[in-house]
Amino acid sequence: MRLRPATIEDARLLFDWRNDPVTRAMSVRRDPVAWEDHLAWLEASLGSPLRRILIAEDGVPLGTVRLDRDIRTEVSITLAPAARGHGRAAPILRLATEGRGPFVARIRPDNAASRRAFEAAGFAFTHHADGMDWFLKP
Ligand SMILES: CC(C)(COP(=O)(O)OP(=O)(O)OC[C@H]1O[C@@H](n2cnc3c(N)ncnc32)[C@H](O)[C@@H]1OP(=O)(O)O)[C@@H](O)C(=O)NCCC(=O)NCCS
Repeated sequence: MRLRPATIEDARLLFDWRNDPVTRAMSVRRDPVAWEDHLAWLEASLGSPLRRILIAEDGVPLGTVRLDRDIRTEVSITLAPAARGHGRAAPILRLATEGRGPFVARIRPDNAASRRAFEAAGFAFTHHADGMDWFLKP
């Protein structure tokens, strides 16, 4: 398994994962995204020094990790629907956050799989705010 930076060629893949109903239900922003808005977002994101979008792959694309740099870097993950349910998120998160930090993550309290994956990758719960659970990896 490896992580590589996303490119504009990944637009369709990222769009499909973002608009998948389970992803939407678990996202901070739950509304569906239009293709044009997604393309504009991806182009801006790829050009931003504050954001990294990575693709995890293992022969096939497994999912994506987004790193948003602020005082601490916020991490979010979406697996391809076909890659879910096999414990793949934890090693991807470990690889994406190896040797750097601190990192934070926001997880919906009902997202047990995500919580377990982030904890297995070294994140610990810090507090609840605005309907989300916050986690920190120092
Ligand atoms: C959340 C997500 C990243 C988890 O990926 P995953 O690695 O496939 O997760 P798994 O289904 O293998 O579950 C991870 C762990 O949680 C456990 N788990 C899953 N559902 C659970 C539940 N309802 N209650 C308790 N534990 C649960 C699994 O048993 C597994 O534990 P283990 O590793 O100790 O065996 C993936 O489902 C996804 O991309 N979801 C849509 C987008 C999303 O929710 N992103 C995260 C936003 S914060």
